[in-house]
Amino acid sequence: MSLKIIKTDVLIIGASASGLMCAIESGRRGRRVIVLDHANKVAKKILMSGGGRCNFTNYDIHPDHYISHNPHFCKSALSRFTQWDFIALIERHKIPYQARDLGKLFCQNRAKDIVNLLLDECAPFNIDIRLKCQIDAVKKEKNQFLIETSNGLYSADSLVIASGGLSIPKMCASPLGYQIAEQFGHHLWPTMAGLVPFTLQPKDKERLAPLSGIALNALVSNQRAQFHENILFTHRGLSGPAILQLSSYWRAGESIQINLLPDLNLSEWLQHARQESSQIKIKTVLSRILPKRLVTIFIDQAILDTPLQQLSKKQQQTIILNLQQWTIKPNNTEGYRTAEVTLGGVDCNEISSKTFQSNKTDNLYFIGEVLDVTGHLGGYNFQWAWSSGWCAGQVV
Ligand code: FDA
Repeated sequence: MSLKIIKTDVLIIGASASGLMCAIESGRRGRRVIVLDHANKVAKKILMSGGGRCNFTNYDIHPDHYISHNPHFCKSALSRFTQWDFIALIERHKIPYQARDLGKLFCQNRAKDIVNLLLDECAPFNIDIRLKCQIDAVKKEKNQFLIETSNGLYSADSLVIASGGLSIPKMCASPLGYQIAEQFGHHLWPTMAGLVPFTLQPKDKERLAPLSGIALNALVSNQRAQFHENILFTHRGLSGPAILQLSSYWRAGESIQINLLPDLNLSEWLQHARQESSQIKIKTVLSRILPKRLVTIFIDQAILDTPLQQLSKKQQQTIILNLQQWTIKPNNTEGYRTAEVTLGGVDCNEISSKTFQSNKTDNLYFIGEVLDVTGHLGGYNFQWAWSSGWCAGQVV
């Protein structure tokens, strides 16, 4: 008995941000499109993103906000389908949205609005989305891709890999995209969890445990990057936007520096305080600018009990060192279990930055996070998914 083959022009693996954007654009050009996904719902990551409100783009999209072994690769797509194009789409669908700090744009109500937008855009083009579909094998025979799945055998002129990275396996992340890339002879850059909290060495974890729940503005840095945003002490370690950002630039075994009072000249400030009231204790003074719990953990009790008047130069230096040049060596990151993104992936030097076609295999495309392009926190990763998906959609 011969197996029935389901034929289509474009087959996309991954029904999420980049895959659906590509489906919409290729459908608009009159291509017959099938999207396959092994999840039971489309775009699970959009649904859980931005604390349920999806930080869908940023006013300030710029290539500097992306990490890649080929820093030029993202430029073309980001300039062809911009944040303004996506905002226009949001406005056309009358989705309420709000701007937060550093240009981040979020849905005012719920991330599901973005998923509905994508599905509504797919509707006129009869995009065929098939969920709970396991991909068993991908082959290319003559000019056709053959995709064996739990739902049958598909053949397509063009194959688009939009299956994302490894972050959050519970949300259906899998290495399929990397495996297909390797199968077709692509080089992969090693993958690593990014935008992820740090775990701490047992000693630090115990010492900092009482600070769990405290968030404060800080400057977090290492030799590669620095970020001035909030940090958050958690019961597992360190999190918050500045920490997540730096995690994408961190390598195992390295220390990081944290300035807990980045906007203050602390020695001048102490000098002023001394002029106001010289008998006041250090503990009281520092508790004006930092949570008391934090002060007692970062500064020795003997110094805390010292009246400002009697504070020695050495003690003052210790305070400044502990609060403004805090150096800590994370134990590790929380890994793919909680990471927002995956660094590394398909080498962009083997992909067209204009069409996203493989330069090893005709009509094979890679878009979104599976590529070695990782955005900063702040809507940059979704913008990359929209831009790369849109560009591929013009040609597949
Ligand atoms: P994405 O991962 O979205 O989709 C891949 C699709 O492929 C999935 O539907 C998956 O089920 C499917 N798939 C995978 N393996 C498969 C297989 N073997 N067979 C069939 N299908 C398979 N970014 C941002 O800009 N703003 C934000 O607010 C957030 N927030 C956020 C929160 C959390 C908790 C996470 C984990 C991530 C974010 N991100 C984010 C990052 C953002 O979600 C991510 O970069 C994009 O979703 C990437 O889009 P892609 O389409 O490339 O992959």
